[in-house]
Amino acid sequence: MFSKSYILIGVLSLFLVASVSGAPLLPYQSSEKHLGVATCASSVCHGSIQANENYKIALNEYVIWSQRDRHAKAYETLLSKDSKAIAAKLGLRNAHTAKICLDCHADNIPKEKRGKGFQLTDGVGCEACHGGSENWIDTHTNKESSHLENIKQGMYPTANLVDRAALCLSCHYGNDDKFATHQIMGAGHPRLSFELDTFQALQPPHFQIDEDYRKRKPIASHAKTWAFGQIAAAQSQLRMLQGPLISQPLVFPELALFDCHSCHNNSMHKLDWQRRMNSVRIKPGTVPIADGHLRMVIVIAHQVDRKIARKLIELSEALQIASGENRSRIVAVSHQLLSIVEKLNHDLAAIELGNSEKEQILYNLINMGIEGAFRDYIGAEQAVMAIELIIIDMNKNEQSRRQIDDLYKQVENDETYQPARFVDTLQKLKAALN
Ligand code: HEC
Ligand code: HEC
Ligand code: HEC
Ligand code: HEC
Repeated sequence: MFSKSYILIGVLSLFLVASVSGAPLLPYQSSEKHLGVATCASSVCHGSIQANENYKIALNEYVIWSQRDRHAKAYETLLSKDSKAIAAKLGLRNAHTAKICLDCHADNIPKEKRGKGFQLTDGVGCEACHGGSENWIDTHTNKESSHLENIKQGMYPTANLVDRAALCLSCHYGNDDKFATHQIMGAGHPRLSFELDTFQALQPPHFQIDEDYRKRKPIASHAKTWAFGQIAAAQSQLRMLQGPLISQPLVFPELALFDCHSCHNNSMHKLDWQRRMNSVRIKPGTVPIADGHLRMVIVIAHQVDRKIARKLIELSEALQIASGENRSRIVAVSHQLLSIVEKLNHDLAAIELGNSEKEQILYNLINMGIEGAFRDYIGAEQAVMAIELIIIDMNKNEQSRRQIDDLYKQVENDETYQPARFVDTLQKLKAALN
């Protein structure tokens, strides 16, 4: 976990989720050729050192990406000592030639889709997110060509929050094509965790939300970005819980779908086992399914439709119980949950998260935390990111900065996280906000 310093952009909740029917193909899945970062990087294109005032966009995107964005170093990482050790333990010859690593650490498209300027060593380059530029490279520079027209030519709709979240999650959580399994984790890969609004700020963004951007593209508040990101993350998890990683006839199903810390952070002598949100009806010793995102989705559902929220709680509890029963039950409950989360995703688009909704979300998170809903590490980690971004959204950053910093410090290291101290700080935060 990392703390962040937010770039405070005053954002209206003016929001249009252009709800296209069916998700667009991800950049690595579509048929267009990727021409390579070099094609975008010239100083008269996206490689301007300073933000250019004469154009709608800043044109310094390449400079920000290459100097400050970890994605530019994602391939280099595969040459590091850590990656070599991971590869050796997995029995791979090299990390930087292994498909399993390249699929997330580079734009690992098939050879026939690589243009002349394409280089795998560019890591997660422009087209890994914006899509193969073969059909829009010439036209997207026209002053008249709109974002929508570019999308028709194969540009990935990054401006749409739902599609953006799906893009990030394809690598930051994984999907049927690529997944950081427990084998990879066991070999030493860092645990993956994601929250769209926070990670967007950390990347850092190479787009400026100004008057002109507002005219061209939909924008969203931190809270709404968080909400769509959480829903997309829960959807990703619920899909994996219905797939071969659960059903495979091995002794254990894929352990990366379960709560890492339930196995890794407990001592057999502490004897402080307790229930938390969604596990109120499970038996001691059940391995909990990782449901950090699902818990955030329940908090979001309270602002959209109480009936949906109640149903989500009931099924989320059933999911944890299923973990102690049998795999087909996990699949069945995940299936039911996914259809409800999909409905929520749809309904959320029409709902304004104004100040009173944000306040309710904030106090729900704090009060639930005080009652022990997030006594586990992944719950706490998600709750802290959510609490911070909503506080920033509500302009209450200054009066609560000390407690927020303290919460971040507590979740910095998962091995030293202490649930009782976390509750104590939440109480102080609540007092500071009043
Ligand atoms: C093609 C895969 C891929 C996609 C798509 C992707 N990422 Fe990443 N991201 C990575 C990899 C791999 C790393 C680790 C890079 C490294 O340090 O080697 C990373 C690192 C990051 C980091 C730095 C994390 C840290 O520990 O400092 C942030 C922030 C981030 N990504 C945000 C995003 C956001 C936001 C999106 C969506 C807009 C996104 N990523 C889309 C693969 C991807
Ligand atoms: C499902 C996508 C995915 C796969 C598969 C994957 N990684 Fe990663 N990897 C990531 C992301 C995302 C991050 C950044 C995590 C973060 O900071 O939040 C990362 C981070 C790392 C880091 C830490 C980088 C740093 O900056 O500290 C190393 C090392 C690494 N990966 C090596 C590998 C190797 C070696 C393989 C192949 C065995 C591999 N990864 C496979 C997505 C993936
Ligand atoms: C990890 C994913 C990711 C990578 C890598 C990436 N972008 Fe972006 N980019 C985004 C997202 C998300 C947005 C914001 C949504 C939008 O405006 O479409 C964006 C926005 C933009 C914009 C629009 C700014 C505006 O005002 O409309 C430009 C131009 C751009 N990126 C260029 C680049 C270039 C050039 C590169 C490579 C040097 C690059 N991007 C790499 C995700 C990425
Ligand atoms: C059901 C229990 C269980 C779950 C859940 C689980 N693990 Fe593990 N993990 C294990 C076991 C067992 C080992 C192997 C220990 C051994 O070799 O002695 C292991 C090994 C590891 C190791 C290597 C540790 C070492 O000592 O070198 C890492 C790292 C790791 N797991 C990370 C994770 C992450 C990250 C998650 C969640 C995404 C996770 N684990 C989920 C049981 C679990």
